[in-house]
Amino acid sequence: MSFISLFLGAILVAFVFYFFSYFRSKIRNGQQDNTSLPPGNLGWPLLGETLEFLRTARNGMPGKFITDRMQKHSTHVFKTSLLGKPTAVFCGPEGNKFLFSNENKVVVTWWPTPIQNLFPSSIMASTGHDTKRMRKVFAAFFKPDSLQRCVGTMDAVTKLYLQSEWEGKGEVKVFPMVKYYTFSLACSLFTGIEDPEYISKLSTDFNILLKGIISFPLNFPGTRYNHAIRAANRLRKEFQVLIEQRRVDLSERSSSSSPKHDLLWCMLTTTDENGQLMTEKEVLDNILGMLMGGHDTTSCALTFLMKYLAELPHVYDEIFKEQMEILTTKEPNELLTWEDIHKMKHSWAAANEAMRLAPPVQGNFRKALSDFTYAGFHIPKGWTLYWSVNSTHMNPDYFQEPEKFNKSRFEGNGAAPYTFIPFGGGPRMCPGKEYAHLEILVFLHNVVKKFKWETVFPNEKFIVDPLPTPAEGLPILLHPH
Ligand SMILES: *[C@@H]1O[C@H](CO)[C@@H](O)[C@H](O)[C@H]1NC(C)=O
Ligand SMILES: *[C@@H]1O[C@H](CO)[C@@H](O)[C@H](O)[C@H]1NC(C)=O
Ligand SMILES: *[C@@H]1O[C@H](CO)[C@@H](O)[C@H](O)[C@H]1NC(C)=O
Repeated sequence: MSFISLFLGAILVAFVFYFFSYFRSKIRNGQQDNTSLPPGNLGWPLLGETLEFLRTARNGMPGKFITDRMQKHSTHVFKTSLLGKPTAVFCGPEGNKFLFSNENKVVVTWWPTPIQNLFPSSIMASTGHDTKRMRKVFAAFFKPDSLQRCVGTMDAVTKLYLQSEWEGKGEVKVFPMVKYYTFSLACSLFTGIEDPEYISKLSTDFNILLKGIISFPLNFPGTRYNHAIRAANRLRKEFQVLIEQRRVDLSERSSSSSPKHDLLWCMLTTTDENGQLMTEKEVLDNILGMLMGGHDTTSCALTFLMKYLAELPHVYDEIFKEQMEILTTKEPNELLTWEDIHKMKHSWAAANEAMRLAPPVQGNFRKALSDFTYAGFHIPKGWTLYWSVNSTHMNPDYFQEPEKFNKSRFEGNGAAPYTFIPFGGGPRMCPGKEYAHLEILVFLHNVVKKFKWETVFPNEKFIVDPLPTPAEGLPILLHPH
């Protein structure tokens, strides 16, 4: 009896070994002949691994979804299924470099269905070559000399804002305050809207819109996606009125008067190489997209910077010293200039370090234009591709002791290529990068000049929905100098 069971056991073990080595060799051969799909799990039909992806993010660990799978499957590329599409996730600097440098060749920017439907003709949702005219508009607005002119305005607005909203208060909640500040500034610089009550009203709908952009595109009453569609329609109506009014102003103005050179003005007057203006629909979609993109990410970067400066007094002191040195070169009441911004080296290094640890944007999508091979795996045409910040930002190979705040990583030579990517990269890098740079430093200058601060909840949790946000809004105690 025992002999037979031993014999059967041996056969079983042999079988297991056989199967094991068979599949292993199959996988290995697949790697060598470039025909197998990347390793990974496609999850449930349709849903794929979307729920897991969203859940880890809402728990404040968006990168965990990626890093768990990198450990389990491959550190180069793995497959999953997100938002209803089979997806290959590219990891590490090689993955980032591949996606950023093959734009319009092997891959093309792709946006999740909610974004495509909410801003159908905007530069955010568009792909490939149809974006030339819009790129030209943004280049006109975001070009260095236009932005240089913005610095003084930003400084003046920021001073007023801190005077009226922060001074004389013992405690403020950083996140909602900074979000209101960045939104007001975007409204003013992009569209000329300055009425605080109207700005608050618009801001409510923009928040609803934001919650719907990374959601499952189920359009029935009660879903986030449905709320977002309705908010976008309300906002379109508001901006339609503004555009009408601008058109009238433009046609009535004599060439001698100088119109406001805001983003809306650029959109209404910049033509492409065929002399075509943007259509009204394009202007609307782009204004919505830019107002959203132009304030949410920056408010998130500023919030985390404020948090780290509260927790790390030695970093605060260094920045305070740098900003005071700039101040001593200026007349009382003289506004900041572009040259001043470029002296803020330690401040910018600290801002970069905050964006490395708490990146406002977690990653982005591309689509495969044709079948191709990457790292020995076959990627089929039409698949969604994804890059994520955390596969490099939190990787000890590129940032020693990655969980530590150490701004000297961004002093000297800075980060290695394709490892620090808070603004994406390649031809589709965030067009507002320089704008964000100015806004962060102008705010930092003004806030550091007036206050020191400490957090109310030392270990406040944060959630990512879809941007990282402190769970309590980061209340701080203000200590004026
Ligand atoms: C696999 O693809 C790589 C890169 O595309 C190529 O250099 C290599 O020759 C391919 N290997 C085989 C066995 O086809
Ligand atoms: C980023 O990845 C690391 C591992 O590399 C992981 O421990 C961490 O939780 C991730 N961070 C976020 C914010 O998801
Ligand atoms: C900070 O980073 C720099 C360079 O990356 C390194 O030389 C230094 O030891 C780090 N400092 C701390 C306190 O970890």
